[in-house]
Amino acid sequence: MKVGILGSGIVAKALGHGFIQEGYEVKLGTRDVNKLSSWLTEKGNNSSAGSFSEAAEFGEIIVLAVQGLAAITVIEIAGVNNFKNKVVIDATNPLDRSEGSPPKLIGGPGTSGGELIQKALHGAFVVKAFNTVSAALMYKPEFEGGPPDMFLCGDDDNAKKTVAQICKIFGWNIIDVGGIKYSHYTEAAGNLWTITAFAGGNWNQAYKLLRK
Ligand SMILES: NC(=O)c1ccc[n+]([C@@H]2O[C@H](COP(=O)([O-])OP(=O)(O)OC[C@H]3O[C@@H](n4cnc5c(N)ncnc54)[C@H](OP(=O)(O)O)[C@@H]3O)[C@@H](O)[C@H]2O)c1
Repeated sequence: MKVGILGSGIVAKALGHGFIQEGYEVKLGTRDVNKLSSWLTEKGNNSSAGSFSEAAEFGEIIVLAVQGLAAITVIEIAGVNNFKNKVVIDATNPLDRSEGSPPKLIGGPGTSGGELIQKALHGAFVVKAFNTVSAALMYKPEFEGGPPDMFLCGDDDNAKKTVAQICKIFGWNIIDVGGIKYSHYTEAAGNLWTITAFAGGNWNQAYKLLRK
């Protein structure tokens, strides 16, 4: 299966690595393919890079892994039609870094990144995932307490099943939070991850809900 990943940063590379390991073909989308040349050499035959629109067109599944506040611009550059009827994994968080760390989360319920992206991608099935953990732990995280939890939200049940399956093979237990309207809460959880990592001086952490 082909995955188009919009982004050239550490998240795009981490998820791209995971998909390639699991036998997918991956095309990363960027404004500047030159910055990916060493990554492509390292990853080999099942990796390629192109423009945002080439990556979106290529993907049977699309991953959004761009700067959160640029996500709508990137979707417009990539061409909304290239997303139609596809599952879109939204790994972004709408963060303003202009005042340093920790970044400030933009938006709220109704204006979260996930909801704005789903509105912009009418006709595609957006599932928010991978936004509550660092790139380094996205693929095959190993913790003594067992697989950590990945929060998913999205409006289409079949799309969530597809993304849940991917998360499972990437080494995660799934928590289905509900519809895309809950995006703000997982985006805040993403920022809380960063705040607690700084506070505790430990980036080797992931969420786990304890239930009985
Ligand atoms: N870093 C993490 O561990 C982590 C964890 C969870 C979620 N996230 C979220 O995942 C997303 C990706 O994070 P990242 O750290 O890998 O990379 P990033 O630095 O947040 O974003 C880099 C990507 O954003 C694109 N971009 C930035 N400004 C743009 C603009 N004005 N117009 C078009 N494209 C623009 C870049 O495009 P070019 O390729 O053209 O330069 C690049 O592909 C973010 O939304 C982040 O909040 C990050």
